[in-house]
Amino acid sequence: MAIDRRVLWRGLGGSRYFEYSWLLRHIGSLRPGLRVLDVGAGPSVLPALLAHRGYTSVASDTDAGELAPQRTFRNRPGVGGRLHALVHDGARLAVRDRSCDVVICRSVLEHISVPGDAATVAELARCVARGGLLLITVPFAPRYREATPPYQSGGHQRLYDLSALEERIIAASGLAPIDRAFIGWPHRAVFRLMLRADRYRVVRLMHRWFSLVAPSAIFGVVGRDATDRAGGALLALRNDALD
Ligand SMILES: C[S@@+](CC[C@H](N)C(=O)[O-])C[C@H]1O[C@@H](n2cnc3c(N)ncnc32)[C@H](O)[C@@H]1O
Repeated sequence: MAIDRRVLWRGLGGSRYFEYSWLLRHIGSLRPGLRVLDVGAGPSVLPALLAHRGYTSVASDTDAGELAPQRTFRNRPGVGGRLHALVHDGARLAVRDRSCDVVICRSVLEHISVPGDAATVAELARCVARGGLLLITVPFAPRYREATPPYQSGGHQRLYDLSALEERIIAASGLAPIDRAFIGWPHRAVFRLMLRADRYRVVRLMHRWFSLVAPSAIFGVVGRDATDRAGGALLALRNDALD
């Protein structure tokens, strides 16, 4: 079976390698059979992994082409009929209120211009079932930064700082923060470069591959309060609504 180049290219590149294990740890605390929605999944292997673990897994993306590899994953042994692909804008999901046990949004919000990122978070939170989780990852810097115009379509728009995490993600979701973590500062160096030069192939190459050969002590998860050493933020939010 042919493997889509996008899967090989992005597979575990960038900060995925570290982020997926953190995401899987949170999802692993829930029982199989639950419904997981990955918004902005593109060619990610994560939705197929979750289907393989027994979850009903929906990979959604605004770009049908990016989602194409999900069709290949559906035919993999063990995935069964549990993997579905849906073309949706994250800001307008055709998904019922509170119908997902977990909603994942990994490395997507930084591609959406203000105020669309906060509006998208509110839409994701609407889909989370009572007791369910919203798991979000974004690039992070101790000081908020935005891309230098002209805007690179599909490129990085910003690095979030603590106040932006609080206002644009946690407050916008209306959910309860139950965990956070940061990944190492070298990602920040590359993310900063991407704000200015996302169009350059060499910069994208660095972003995709450098963490695979780097020591996890500085590139991996560096702790929940290590903001000065952080290049990415991971947030777990829970729907604690009583009604
Ligand atoms: C950096 S990729 C991340 C892909 C995937 N989450 C992963 O972990 O590999 C960003 C993805 O977000 C998608 N995207 C951008 N804006 C979106 C939006 N408004 N709604 C849904 N997906 C969006 C892009 O098409 C792209 O596939």
